[in-house]
Amino acid sequence: MKKVMILNGSPRKNWNTAMMLKAAAEGAAAAGAEVEYIDLFDLSYTGCRSCLACKRKGAERPKCFWKDDLSPVIDRIFAANALIVGSPVYLGDVTSQVIGLLERLHFCALSYDDYSNYFTGKVNVGVILTMNAGKPWYELQYKKAMKDRFAALKALNGSFEILPACDTLQVNDYSKFDMGSFSEEHKKQMRAEQFPKDLEKARELGRKLGS
Ligand SMILES: Cc1cc2nc3c(=O)[nH]c(=O)nc-3n(C[C@H](O)[C@H](O)[C@H](O)COP(=O)(O)O)c2cc1C
Repeated sequence: MKKVMILNGSPRKNWNTAMMLKAAAEGAAAAGAEVEYIDLFDLSYTGCRSCLACKRKGAERPKCFWKDDLSPVIDRIFAANALIVGSPVYLGDVTSQVIGLLERLHFCALSYDDYSNYFTGKVNVGVILTMNAGKPWYELQYKKAMKDRFAALKALNGSFEILPACDTLQVNDYSKFDMGSFSEEHKKQMRAEQFPKDLEKARELGRKLGS
């Protein structure tokens, strides 16, 4: 049975990113995979603390030795068949929780002798991004930057794909907020017409990575 780790990098547990990830989880489970779903914002951790325990002579590798909530998750990622990470776009980047995860995972797999990869297994990767930006802006401004942002996951030696969900609904009632640059009518239309298609793509990604 395939093991699929699904990590929600959004602080919101039931909104766009989580909905996409839960659809991916359904797809993976339907394909017969064992699924573990984690809200990263429930975990207590930071980026790399430079303890350098992963570079100590004789250390077990790849392994992050810092004692917090993330290190056991990193162990389970290295032992999984697939990883699906989701993040909302925050100021043109991913959330700080996701950056911390990437930093820790990448650094503990990286040899400081010759910059080779300590990880010899294979974990296929799917990245789900949600954002206010429309598809053309994503293609022009974010697509390459996001591919570069997740380059750390090359250390997992598997397949890699990004699934963007663009022009998401940010709040249910825009009239309560100073968010004048968005049209509630357009956002609600995207939620009704486009988002279900994005959810189906997420389900398909889960099915693919879970089978
Ligand atoms: C702090 C913050 C910064 C954001 N920056 C961007 C941005 O740079 N580009 C963008 O397209 N959307 C941006 N957004 C919108 C979110 O990416 C979008 O609403 C996303 O779908 C939220 O995901 P969630 O529903 O899972 O929280 C930002 C939202 C927040 C809260």
